[in-house]
Amino acid sequence: MKKILVIHGPNLNLLGEREPGVYGTDTFESINDEIVAHALGLGMHCEVYQSNHEGEIIDELHLARKKFDGVVLNAGAYTHYSYAIRDAIAAIKIPVVEVHLSNIHARDEFREKSVIAPVCVGQISGFGKYSYLMAVDALNYKWTEGEAVDKA
Ligand code: DQA
Repeated sequence: MKKILVIHGPNLNLLGEREPGVYGTDTFESINDEIVAHALGLGMHCEVYQSNHEGEIIDELHLARKKFDGVVLNAGAYTHYSYAIRDAIAAIKIPVVEVHLSNIHARDEFREKSVIAPVCVGQISGFGKYSYLMAVDALNYKWTEGEAVDKA
């Protein structure tokens, strides 16, 4: 059974009450429940971690490299400027899928740039909570058909 870790960065613990017009009204807890259930439906074990602190997210990525097969990461605003998180992703060998609830390319100019995108296996942005479910699907794809496509 593949094991995946979902890491939520700063302010995402407030999902449900934080800017609902942008991020929706589903609570952080209910979104996590849906992600875990979705992963289980695909035969994956899924755990969830959230931190508002850059160093803690880096520590968790380091730990994940030994405990998990892949990571779904919403780095929140760190996406746009944290070279330290980018380097942590580059340092680990397991695939990391970048996720955003909102479409970061259709908002403020500073959100358009993701410094972590080049070291992630891909980016999913703009589908609300479904972005997370799609990221789980993306890892599943990587480990099933994707591997066959890579080898072709
Ligand atoms: C976000 C987008 C970021 O720009 C923002 O700072 C967040 C959330 C998203 O999920 O849409 O905190 O990552």
